[in-house]
Amino acid sequence: MIIAIDGPAAAGKGTIATGLADHFNFAFLDTGRVYRAVGLAMLEKNLDPADEDLAEKAAVSLSHTNLHTLLANPKIRDEATGLAASIVAARPKVRKALLDVQRNFAHNPYFPDNTKAKGAVLDGRDIGTTVCPDADIKFFVTASDEIRAKRRFKELQLKDKSVIYEHVLADMLTRDKRDRTRNIAPLAPAKDAFILDTSDLDIDAAIAKAIEHASTFIS
Ligand code: CDP
Repeated sequence: MIIAIDGPAAAGKGTIATGLADHFNFAFLDTGRVYRAVGLAMLEKNLDPADEDLAEKAAVSLSHTNLHTLLANPKIRDEATGLAASIVAARPKVRKALLDVQRNFAHNPYFPDNTKAKGAVLDGRDIGTTVCPDADIKFFVTASDEIRAKRRFKELQLKDKSVIYEHVLADMLTRDKRDRTRNIAPLAPAKDAFILDTSDLDIDAAIAKAIEHASTFIS
């Protein structure tokens, strides 16, 4: 059983994916974290994230590590890392290098302690369209630009009080535009995706709605 969750930055994908994975006892993979890990590897070596061949090398070497350990670096959620991730993610060689590792996880999911799971929840930008077009259940999670920027601002403020809302909004819109307009696997809802707008939903309500929809597919 594969659940695919796509959508723009800070729409609530991660929260919903975690809620679904907990409820159905499925393993969860945040594929954004995989792209972020490639972006971060480039930044930490002072390499240009737009250098496709070097970014491909970083992607290939990361694809051999346990995906759950990619969370370890605290800089993984920084806004600079997110921007670098969206640059490497627009490069076809990088996407190709990361495709199999995501598909393998979807079809043979495992928990952080390496035990097998009976289902997988993957969140990202192209899971329902490209990585797992065969997913059993597909969501496209969205929310208004302002609400998404406010959520991301709150998240970043917990780590850095000096963060400026207008910068967060501008960075998020830059990233969204790059994700939506890139030539390869652009961000878009799969034709058979359930559209879940979380603008007016709190966390519990959004998760409840997702569980209600998924339950119609899972006995
Ligand atoms: O958490 P947030 O929504 O800010 O972004 P993320 O899911 O961590 O992803 C970071 C970046 O990786 C995105 O802006 C995309 O450019 C890229 N990405 C992608 O291209 N395809 C995916 N399946 C996941 C992420």
